Amino acid sequence: MRNQQDLLTMARERLASARSVVVLTGAGISAESGIATFRGGMDALWKDFDPQTLATPQAFERDPEMVTRWYDWRRLKCLDAAPNRGHLALAALEDRLSAQGGRFTLLTQNVDRLHQRAGSRCVVELHGTIMEWRCCRTGKPVPTPSGAWGSFPPASPHAAGALVRPSVVWFGEALPEAALVTAMDVSRSCDVFMSIGTSAVVYPAAGFIKIAADNGAFTIEVNRDPTPISSGVDCALHGLAGELLPRLVS
Ligand code: OAD
Repeated sequence: MRNQQDLLTMARERLASARSVVVLTGAGISAESGIATFRGGMDALWKDFDPQTLATPQAFERDPEMVTRWYDWRRLKCLDAAPNRGHLALAALEDRLSAQGGRFTLLTQNVDRLHQRAGSRCVVELHGTIMEWRCCRTGKPVPTPSGAWGSFPPASPHAAGALVRPSVVWFGEALPEAALVTAMDVSRSCDVFMSIGTSAVVYPAAGFIKIAADNGAFTIEVNRDPTPISSGVDCALHGLAGELLPRLVS
């Protein structure tokens, strides 16, 4: 059995020789920026709430004030956070591949925009973003304030009596069509697929790595803990994304 150092070397070589790389990220990559993961328990004010019961259309219908307060609290936390070494390493990997004429696509389940702030350019937001909000009735964007919303739930300026909601994908809602099509296409045709900081239990995102493997890609997982995909990947690296990714990309 190979040790972690051998696996890291193998993964680094595969990344260095790849022409086309797809990376899927989850909440774990932002953990070192101080943003709580979904299944790790929320901190402070919202520690008694389960994100999975708040991130649904039903919760918003039942209690729009609570749901929008929770999302706005998270939006402000994300704005306060800074990208960490893991985010920066992925931006550097994209730069390197682009300079060599290769292709890099970052599929993220995160709504925090930290990848873009780290310099990543080809980012597909599978679950939308908390930084944009829209009118529930017309779908038109509503600019977010720099601080908290003035009242909860925020009222839409576009339709009388309508509310504003974050442009994220809730459980039970479909992923944006264009994001899904791109994710399937790039997963089918990449040389290396790397899954980072995700518990790999939420579909369809959790299924992209299998599509890649079925089409011949080399698969890498970088995660603090073992997940359902760990035993099936070519290279499972266990540790913190902020420590492992700079070593993989350097
Ligand atoms: P989870 O909270 O389910 O999983 C985070 C994963 O990151 C876990 O496997 C942790 O072990 C790992 N982790 C934590 N800290 C880490 C670190 N510093 N470095 C590396 N790994 C670390 O979050 P997601 O997998 O992103 O969807 O959750 C997927 C989706 O479920 C979310 O996008 C959200 C959700 O509930 C919607 O809201 C639709």
